[in-house]
Formats: sequence, structure tokens, C-alpha cells
Amino acid sequence: MTSSTPYDVRDAEVIVVGSGLAGMTAALQLAPRAVTLITKTAGLPGGSSLYAQGGIAAAVGPGDRPEDHAADTVAAGAGLVDAAMAALLTRDGAAQVRRLLDDGLPFDRAPDGSPLLGREAAHGAARIVHAGGDATGRTLVTALADRLRATPSVRVETDAFAVDLVLRNGRVCGLLACHGQGWVLHRAPRVILATGGIGAAFARTTNPAEATGDGLAIAARAGATLADLEFVQFHPTALAVDADPVPLLTEALRGAGALLLDRQGRRFMPDEHPLAELAPRDVVARAIGRRVAAGEPVFLDLRPALAAKPGGFPTVLALCAEHGLDPVAEPMPVAPAAHYHMGGVVTDADGRTSLDGLWACGEVACTGVHGANRLASNSLLEALVFGARVARDVADRPLSPLPPFALPRPPTVAADVGHALLDAIGTEARTALYDGAGLVRNGLGLLAARRKLDRLAAALDMLRCEDGDSENDLQAPPEIVRQWGEARNRLLVGRLVVHAALAREESRGAHCRSDHPLPNPASLSRTLTLSELAGTAGHLPGDAACCIL
Ligand code: SIN
Repeated sequence: MTSSTPYDVRDAEVIVVGSGLAGMTAALQLAPRAVTLITKTAGLPGGSSLYAQGGIAAAVGPGDRPEDHAADTVAAGAGLVDAAMAALLTRDGAAQVRRLLDDGLPFDRAPDGSPLLGREAAHGAARIVHAGGDATGRTLVTALADRLRATPSVRVETDAFAVDLVLRNGRVCGLLACHGQGWVLHRAPRVILATGGIGAAFARTTNPAEATGDGLAIAARAGATLADLEFVQFHPTALAVDADPVPLLTEALRGAGALLLDRQGRRFMPDEHPLAELAPRDVVARAIGRRVAAGEPVFLDLRPALAAKPGGFPTVLALCAEHGLDPVAEPMPVAPAAHYHMGGVVTDADGRTSLDGLWACGEVACTGVHGANRLASNSLLEALVFGARVARDVADRPLSPLPPFALPRPPTVAADVGHALLDAIGTEARTALYDGAGLVRNGLGLLAARRKLDRLAAALDMLRCEDGDSENDLQAPPEIVRQWGEARNRLLVGRLVVHAALAREESRGAHCRSDHPLPNPASLSRTLTLSELAGTAGHLPGDAACCIL
């Protein structure tokens, strides 16, 4: 940015960062309190919620109970789920989904008006509600975005990239953001991070481009406690095409009878697991990933599912057609892709983080409900439940005035830095993380990824302006600062994931180490802060929070 770049200061009671299901739920529930929702996307809604084909798991069917849903959630999490949090998720979740059904949200229903309930892997009952067939996320967040736009207490600021928290004496006092027109200090005593996951830190992902781990990196730089960072869920059946993100072929297809085939057209999952295609997601992903890595393509035959649920998969059909593929004519090529981050910023049952004035909800948070492996269709549920709980807690907290503080200096990027260089750094970082900390990891691969990511982080750090340059016309424009900021976040979350994956010398849930193939009952620490990473990694280029005053 040049010295004439505007630097605005705006006051708010509450800042919500993120435009997916969790952030919009929190903002809506806080009404009529004044909320500023900032999102780097060009409009509402944004984030991965929009891409969610699978539904929302909730014990709302006859004979189903939240306790049973909680038991399935705990079993899927491979020993690391917080059982009390799972009980809360499933109890509050059933109530929330009933409320949405009563509110008339357009869920798929039987002729008698009752919700149509699907079954997915590792669920003991049919308890997945869908909307628009396989367009659940899109249907839900589009409806919530309409409500949000009609809510006068919420001010929405789009094209606004959250850069760093502002902290004074350990207390969150706001957030510095790079808007399309310049810098804005959003002064506020309460900040809610709802920025989603980290999929776009990996080369191959089902997540949208905005999923660069911004909230996780922001919280890490501010010193928040993080946990379970090594646990990244890879979706087994992304369409094997050259696209970014790669299109998802929902698990509900296999729930409705779609079959996994090898090149000879033979099913292989029955030899891998008693539940065959409906085995837990990590088992299916590894069975496919092993074959693909050995150069043996894998296919998903959608035809049994399309016949069983005519009209049930419009999104999948449209995505295949976009890539010139016809799933009615032939099986579709599939391969795993980074999909969901179980780890994140540690929160309690009300979404409070370890930092005074900071809450987190949705994928960026680590509530403990997913442990080492998330149960299918529990993520939209988590966003709904904890978005609402955070809003209640924030609303109940007495408002104390902010301490006085000086305007923080924004990080500055040199004027000659261009998109091509930042693209190259981003691409190399994504490949390094996917190759080294992908579906199956080992110590050597993780160490190689760490070296590469450290080198790239150091290179990125060199692109900052010297202090003395910051008043001159030597600084890059906002779109470059934003791209630099996303690269900085990608590299930080990548190094955090690698660090946690190196420390966990066992295989558990989604974390599979070929050099430590068995689970180790000795409990390893789940939490991490940036200073602990610094303790082992030495200098952390570019990671000093610019706004701790
Ligand atoms: C899917 O539709 O397969 C994804 C659902 C989820 O991630 O829970």
C-alpha cells in the first residue's frame, strides 16, 4: 500500500469474521446487538458450508436418540472425542434442527411433512437431513444469508481480509483488516472467529479457495491454545479431475448404493472392511489412496445410487457435466482430497478460546467433538450448535470499556512483489503439505515438508518492507497484501500441522503414519501454541503478531 492508503478506524460491539454457516448463525442470533460481520469473499454466503453436499446429522427420527448419535460420534473419533461435548452437540443439535424444520427451512420431506432421513457411514441410524437433495449446505446458507441481509443490526463488510488480532495486556481489543480500499482497524471488545478450515493449504482439496486457515493462523499468532492440528480428514471420493477445488462426490452416493471399482470393474472394498463402501471415511480414503498412489485408477459407479434416488443428486450430476463426464454412461474416476480439519483453536462449550475477548466456532474451532476423525455430516451441525452457543455467551458477557491503545502498524509488503511470485510460493507450499502431510505420512516425509515450508516462509518474510520504507510509496496494493497474507497463513498452518503430525508417533483416526502404524495408548499432548512451535523450530519468520501492543 502506498503512504496515501487510507487507514480507517471503526467501532463495533462484536466482530464476526467469516461468512459460512457458523459465522452467519452467530451474527443472526446476536440480533438486535450491533454486529459487524467481515468476510474476504465478494459477497454472502462464503466458505465451505456452501459446498457441503452431505446433510446435517441430528437425532430427529422416530426411535433415534441424541445419546445414540453421541455414541457414534465418540466411536468415530478414535479415542480423542470429548464425550461431554459430543453429548452437548447431539442434544443441542437435535433441538436446533427441529427448530429449523419448524421454521420452514426447505429441508427434503416426505409427503406427510416429516423430514427424509438418510444414513451415512458409521451412523447407527438414519439421521441425516438434506435440503435440495445433495445441495444441503448451499440451500441452508443461502436462506440464512437472505435473513442476514434483512437483519438491520448486522453490518456486512465484504472484500475485507482479516490480518491480525489487536491485543492489549492480553485482552482482545479488535482486529486489523485489509479491505479493498485500505486498512481498517475494527475496534471491538469481542471477536468471533468463524473462518472455516485449512483445505486450501493442501494441493488437492474439496474446499474453496478462501479456506486458507486464516482464523487458525490469526489465533496462533496471538498466542491462543490450539489442538488436534494433525487430524485432517481426506474425503475418499473427490472427482479425479484437474480442478481447484476438486468436485466432491458425496458420501450419500455410497449410502444409496454407489460402488467403488478398480480398473477391471471389480469391487475392492469388501476385501478391505466388513462395511465395504460404508466403512469409516478414513478407511475408504486410504484404500483408494493406496491404489491411486500405485498408479491404479479407482472409479465410483454412481448408477445404483442414481437409480435408487432419482433426482437426489443434482449437484453431483452438474459437477460431473461441468467436467464433460456422464455418470449415467460410465463410472467416475475418484481420488481422495483434503476435506476437513478436526483440529483448531481450543474452545470450551461456549466457544470461548484461551484469549480474553476471543471466541471461535465452526471448523476453525476445536471443541473436542470430532477427536481424530469427524463423523460424517457432523460439521454443519457443529456450526449451527456452536454458532448459537457463542452468540448466547457473547451476548451475556458484560461489556467493559476498551483500554486506550495506539493504532497498530499494518504489515507492509514491498511494491515490486507481484501475483506470480506469490502464486509460485502458494503452489509450492500446497504441494509440500499434500505430499508430506497427506493421507499417509511418515517421519522422513514430514521432515522434508517442514524444511520446504520453513524455506518458503523465510522467502515470504523477505517480501516485507523494511520499517523505514513504510511511509514511502514502496508498498504493495491491497490485493497483493491480501495474497501475501493468505500465503503467510497457509505456511503457518502447514507448519503447525506438520509439527503436530511429527509429534504424534502413532496412527489414530485420520492421522496415519506408515512408520508408526499402530495406535499408541500412551496419551500424547493434544494442544500446542505458537511459542511451543517456535521452541522446536527456532525462528518463525513472519509469524510475530503485528498487533500485540
Ligand atoms: C459428503 O457429502 O460426503 C461430505 C459430508 C461431510 O463431510 O460431512
